[in-house]
This record gives sequence, C-alpha cells and structure tokens, in this order.
Amino acid sequence: MCGIFGYIGGRTDAGPLVIEGLKNLEYRGYDSWGIACKRNGAIIVHKDAGKISGVDSSAFAEPCSMAIAHTRWATHGNVSARNAHPHISGDGTIAVVHNGIIENYQELRAELETRGHAFQSETDTEIIPHLIEEEYRRTADFAGAVRAACRHFQGRYGLLALHADSSTLVAARTGSPLIIGVMNDGGYCIASDIPAFLEQTHTVQYLDDGEMLVTDGKSILFTDIVTGEEHPKREIPITWSPEEAQKGEYEHYMLKEIMEQKESIVRAVNQDEQQIRILADAIRNAKGTFLVGCGTAGKACMAAEYFFSVIAKHHVNFAPASEFKLYHHFLEPESLLIVVSQSGETADVLEAMHIAKSKGSNVLAITNVQGSTISREADFTLLINAGPERAVASTKALTGQMAVLMLIAYALTGKLQDGKTKLLETGAAINDMLNPRYIKRIEALAKRINQNENLYIIGKSWNYPMALESAIKIQEVSYIHAEGFAGGELKHGPIALIEDGTPCIALLGNDEVTADMLSNAIELKARGGRIIGIAPQEHSVFDEWLKVPEAGPAQPIVNIIPVQILAYYLAVTRGKDPDMPRNLAKSVTVK
Ligand code: AGP
Repeated sequence: MCGIFGYIGGRTDAGPLVIEGLKNLEYRGYDSWGIACKRNGAIIVHKDAGKISGVDSSAFAEPCSMAIAHTRWATHGNVSARNAHPHISGDGTIAVVHNGIIENYQELRAELETRGHAFQSETDTEIIPHLIEEEYRRTADFAGAVRAACRHFQGRYGLLALHADSSTLVAARTGSPLIIGVMNDGGYCIASDIPAFLEQTHTVQYLDDGEMLVTDGKSILFTDIVTGEEHPKREIPITWSPEEAQKGEYEHYMLKEIMEQKESIVRAVNQDEQQIRILADAIRNAKGTFLVGCGTAGKACMAAEYFFSVIAKHHVNFAPASEFKLYHHFLEPESLLIVVSQSGETADVLEAMHIAKSKGSNVLAITNVQGSTISREADFTLLINAGPERAVASTKALTGQMAVLMLIAYALTGKLQDGKTKLLETGAAINDMLNPRYIKRIEALAKRINQNENLYIIGKSWNYPMALESAIKIQEVSYIHAEGFAGGELKHGPIALIEDGTPCIALLGNDEVTADMLSNAIELKARGGRIIGIAPQEHSVFDEWLKVPEAGPAQPIVNIIPVQILAYYLAVTRGKDPDMPRNLAKSVTVK
C-alpha cells in the first residue's frame, strides 16, 4: 500500500529527510513516488514512475523545512508520473499525499469540474487539493479547509497536506494509518509506518480514525475531524531499534526475518503468564470464540483450530476476515473475536472487528505492531514481539502468531508451563536447524526445481494450514503456481493435476496421521510426482528429504520454516525480488 512521509520543524534538510524516509517505506510495495517541498512561499514538486531506491536525495538539498513525500501503490489510474503523488490544487498552492480510496471521488470530481476545476490525473486523490482550495478561498483557514474537505469523503484515507501560504502541515485519517514521530531536536515526522523514521526518533504519537492534526513544527494539535474537539495525545516510546528495521548483512529482509525465528519464537512465548491465563479464561467463558485473519495470519488461525481442538478439546471457528461480513450472524455479546494481524492495519480485519463490536462482542488482538490501529481498537492486545517485519512475505510473524495461539490453548487446559516448555524446546530446535549447511541444501533444491511452473503441497491436521501457507509463500515471491491441499483431498480432484516430475511437497510430523500422509505421497509418486518430504524421519517415498525436528503440536511451526527458505531461494534463483513482489503490499489497508 502507499507510503506517506512528511516533515516540519527547524531543520532545513526536509527534502533529503523525506526522500530517505520514503526509502524506508519501500517494503510496503509501490510503483511510483513523489515529493513536494515548500520553499520561499512556493511549492516545488517532483514525481516519477519507478523506484526511489536509486534516487540521490542530495538533489533535493536546497534549504526547506517543510516537505511531504509519497510512494504510490496504484489503485485508481495507471502507473505514471502524472498519477504519482503529491497532487496539486488548481492554483498550485496546495499539495496533498494520500493513502486509501476516496470511494465517491467521481461524483466529487464531476461537481468540481462543473465549477471550473481541471484535473491532470486519473486518480481519486487529485480531488482532495481541489476541494481544500475551494474551502480555503472561503475562509483563508488552511486547517479548517482540510476539515471541511474531509467531510465530503466516503471511504478510507490517510492524508498529509501543505499550503504555500501556511506555516503548518495538516494531516487527517479515517482508515489508513498515520503515525507521528516526535523529533529529538523539535519538529515532527508524519508517516505511514514507524520504520520510516526509526533513525530519527523513538517517540511517537498516533493519529486515530476520525482525527486530524495541525502542526507548525513546534507544537501539534489533535482534533476530531467533525467536531473540532481537541484530543490530547500521550507520547509513546518505541522499543524497536533502527538496526532491527534494517537488512544488516542479509541481501533481503525476507531471509533476515526467516533467520530471526531463532529468537523471535522465544520472544513470542515469553508473554506475561497472568495475561495468557486471563485470555484463556475469556475463551473458556465466551459463548463461542471466532478467529479472524487474512492471508498468512489466517493460516495461523487455521492451525489454531487444531491446537485448541487437540490440546484443549475446545471448539473455535476460523473465518477469513474478508468473509466475515456474511458470517457473523451467530455473534452475540458473550462471543469472543480473536483477530490475528502482523501489521495491525489490515482493512478486512478492522471491518470484522467493527462488526463484532457492533454486536457487543469482545475483541482480542494478536499483532506484531505496538500502537497499530487494530491494537488500539481491540479490548485486549497480545504482542508477538517478532520485531519489525518488512518483507512483504510474512515469516517470523506467522510462527510467532502460532506460538502465542498454542500457548493460549495449553493455558486453557491449565498446563501453561507445559506449553511454554514445549515451545521453548521447539525454539531451541529451530535454532539448531537454521544452520548454514541446511540453508545451502535448500538453496540447492530450489535450483533443481525452479523451472517448474506448478508445485503442490500437501498436509494433514495442523499441517494442512501450513500446506496452504506454503502455497502463499511460494506464489507471492517466486510467482510459481503453487497450491496447497489437504492430503486426504487429493483423490477428490487435485491428483488429476500431477504430471511426470511435478514437484510435490509433503509436510509430515511423527503422529497418528503420518501413515495416511505417506499413502498420499505414494499416490502422488505413482503418477510421476517428485516428492519433497519435510518430516522428522526419512521415508522411502521421498525423492528429497528436508529433516525437521519432531515437535508434536508445534510441528506446523517447524515445518513451515524450510518452505519459507525454499520460497526465498526459488524467488532469488528465478531473478525475482523477494522483498518487493509484484502487485503485493506489506499491509493491505484498503478493501
Ligand atoms: C503474507 O506473506 C502476505 N503478505 C499476506 O497474506 C499477509 O499475511 C496478509 O495481508 C495479512 O497481513 P497482516 O498479518 O498484516 O494482517
């Protein structure tokens, strides 16, 4: 999704500052970029299609103390310089950058055109500076003009605006995140995500939905967009370090974050035990517990269905957040919704939360980002403490989410310590597994199969969700058509897909479904499938074997890791950028 970065304060290098800030937001996924600097009472705009990574920020070094910048993930209008942000008012005095979708923009644009406004782009965003311009002509009050313009919008937006005649930056949000970095030397950064300004400050404030802010770089005022009522805000310390948010010695964030699972699973497990027990009681006492998530986070929820059933003999239901709109009718005030989201900003998950809260149900959030919208709207939040996850492909967040959900399942049985011990043992085993020789073996395997355009993965029980997750990982970074199936479903259709040499990954543990899974693998092999076994023991049906620790209920946590590594090397050996895959964004903040 789009990235926003703005600065206002005493520094005069606002241009390079916001360009470098944008580079820290590249991981969100984008296709064009732009910057607007306010200099000597004029707005200087530069924007282009393509990547910002190679841009020399010193080209924007002319003194400037107020600037806004944007990386665009195209929704309305193709990828072009013309459609890149910032967008400008007709009189050239107002620049705006925006994340989200103004759903009624066509109607607003038509009305503006009848009043003489001319548009340069195909975007929804461009109506924003034109509306502000109209309101400003009436009042000469920039913040008031932004407020008045926002009242016309339907849909989700996070916007940042500057005016050639005003000494303030104005931001407003409904649905798309904006976070304020309180600079150590005075001044403020305003960005879509914390990693953008981690090198500048560790103190933040959050703009909530329905709020706007006005700042002159010395002070900042938060108000309700509709009523204008002031909303005092606390300054919050951020524990992440800039190094955690950088690649370090790794070529890509994805591999760095895969390797960080040596520690991140242990951090996820080391929760406040009293809090875990409170959550377990809430689940036990709820009239139905429903798990909701999207994509990879949704697969953690599916694995949790098995954890709660097998470990705690407790029934919980998963639904993809995007399906929740026609799924929630059984929800009652005594129900409990557990939402799982790495970013804490996913639009579909937020919508499911709003539905549950409208029914009076309690919402528990399991997320990785402190202060995210989901964490601030939930009744209770558990952080998985995985550290910044910047690769679009979610890896360490998934295993952290599964670890926390498994811990809660153990707490439901009154055996929290057993669960903690099991998971810490698993973390230690993963630490041993992630050694250079193992990584090299998987890289070599990737080279042997990277010319295949189809690849299938089978799993059973808690490894079935990991078969689906394996497909997501391989699809999204290598662009290979990967599909995951329940092993027992092969004969009901999918086995027709198998041709001579088709790579088939089989995810196994050492449990009561192993024999069934081996039969499924034999059926695949009999039809030409090339069997890649991910299992604690080798079996004769395997053409390739990637050994994993035997981990009982934690088997899905260990089994997915070699697949993550395989997906990474399939991408790299196919010449793809695993950190910024085409068409995808790190956080899907629009519906
Ligand atoms: C995972 O690799 C994908 N990038 C995607 O499926 C992601 O898991 C999904 O968009 C949910 O994101 P969230 O965890 O931030 O809510």
